[in-house]
Amino acid sequence: MESLYESLLQYGKLDKYPFHMPGHKRRGSFENPFLLDITEIDGFDNLHHAEGILRDAQRRTADLYGSEETYFLVNGSTCGILSAVSAAVPPGGKLLMARNCHKAAYHSVFLRGLEAVYLYPETEPVLGLNGGITPEAVKNALKEHPDIRAVLITSPTYDGVVSDVSGIARAAHEKGIPLIVDEAHGAHFGFHPYFPESSVRLGADLVIHSLHKTLPSFTQTALLHVNGPLADRERLRRYLEIYQTSSPSYLFMAGMDRCTGLLKCRGRELFEDFKRRLEDFYGEMQGLERIRLAGRWLTGKSGIYEYDPSKLVLSVKHTSADGNMLSKLLREEYGIELEMAAGSYALALSSIADTEEGFDRLKRALKETDGRLEDREDPPLEDRVIKNETVCKISEAMEMPGERIILSASEGRISREFLFLYPPGIPLLVPGERISRQVLDRVRNFRKRGYQFQGLEDYSMETIQVAGA
Ligand SMILES: Cc1ncc(COP(=O)(O)O)c(C=O)c1O
Repeated sequence: MESLYESLLQYGKLDKYPFHMPGHKRRGSFENPFLLDITEIDGFDNLHHAEGILRDAQRRTADLYGSEETYFLVNGSTCGILSAVSAAVPPGGKLLMARNCHKAAYHSVFLRGLEAVYLYPETEPVLGLNGGITPEAVKNALKEHPDIRAVLITSPTYDGVVSDVSGIARAAHEKGIPLIVDEAHGAHFGFHPYFPESSVRLGADLVIHSLHKTLPSFTQTALLHVNGPLADRERLRRYLEIYQTSSPSYLFMAGMDRCTGLLKCRGRELFEDFKRRLEDFYGEMQGLERIRLAGRWLTGKSGIYEYDPSKLVLSVKHTSADGNMLSKLLREEYGIELEMAAGSYALALSSIADTEEGFDRLKRALKETDGRLEDREDPPLEDRVIKNETVCKISEAMEMPGERIILSASEGRISREFLFLYPPGIPLLVPGERISRQVLDRVRNFRKRGYQFQGLEDYSMETIQVAGA
């Protein structure tokens, strides 16, 4: 059997174009990795006690983004989210969080035994996307639950939906609590007016960026930015020490430093070029008849404050196809690999590293595919977050005795497991939630169309762990 290494080398030789992460798009050069892969030897500082070359690199990154402090993360945004939530909310405390957060946010709730109060995104009716979170919804929740200790939202979402971060920050600060923004998909914000402003400059207290998702940086590299007096920095450092590896990769850290150095020196020029490619792309795509693209036209509705045009949401909601079919077709017939297939759309992620040739290939593929799609007769697959009844905390459900039962017969029972499509990793079902007919129907409809769910221990998806009868 071929090794992973050989398989990757083979794959690299194929004519496949990546409209997916990482944001370097498999381009760029780096010294022999073995030459740079060291440990904490003299002169190279220690990430967990940075006072030399790593402190300076983090300082430069903080200056670039306009934050008071920035930490390099080598375990992805995941460890940034775990650390930020753990620092902001005491064990057993209450967290106000958007229900369309990534699973890492739920894991932080589990690990700290927190009670999550959910904010549901508004409903975007045209493409069926999850919309934004509004400051009004945050204010109302904080009024209803005065003991909430922090607010956590995802902005932008995987689909490019940006919420009113400054309004939400004001609502949190009026109550003296911090706002954490999972801006994992927005590390490229704030470098050019064509893209939204970064939450770092909009009043958020803790902002998490996956550098690897949208910028030329290695997978797993991420940043945690800290601003203002509400983030407890001592606790934050404690949790970073816990959740980050004790052997941070110097390749990753050098890659981050190089990426942010590139933005500092050539950011404006690179984003100007990127903007031109995107404008050209969106312009040409206006001629499509069936495939619809998300874009700036969504702003001002459904809680959508701004839209990130680098996320190319290719909606087939009004056609006979689904996200999986479109994704497969682009892969098999055009050698284009997308980031994600949702129910009624597929997502192409673009970045400053995308080439003219890449965009040309995508444009041609979409124009030709558009002509082949037919009108929809049956209802599209639903992608919006479902409102489940929360019966108990995630930690309570996961620790309580339970039993394994047939998934299709689990309606009304309390789940002890997560269930999600990956990507995007937003749980359809969370431990402690009551399993509804709506959830089971969604699972059945998606599986019929070949979608794979994750989260259940039983990979065959026949059974689920539920709380004891
Ligand atoms: C919204 C969001 N937040 C956080 C994460 C976790 O990021 P990472 O893979 O860098 O740990 C993801 C991953 O896809 C994500 O989509």
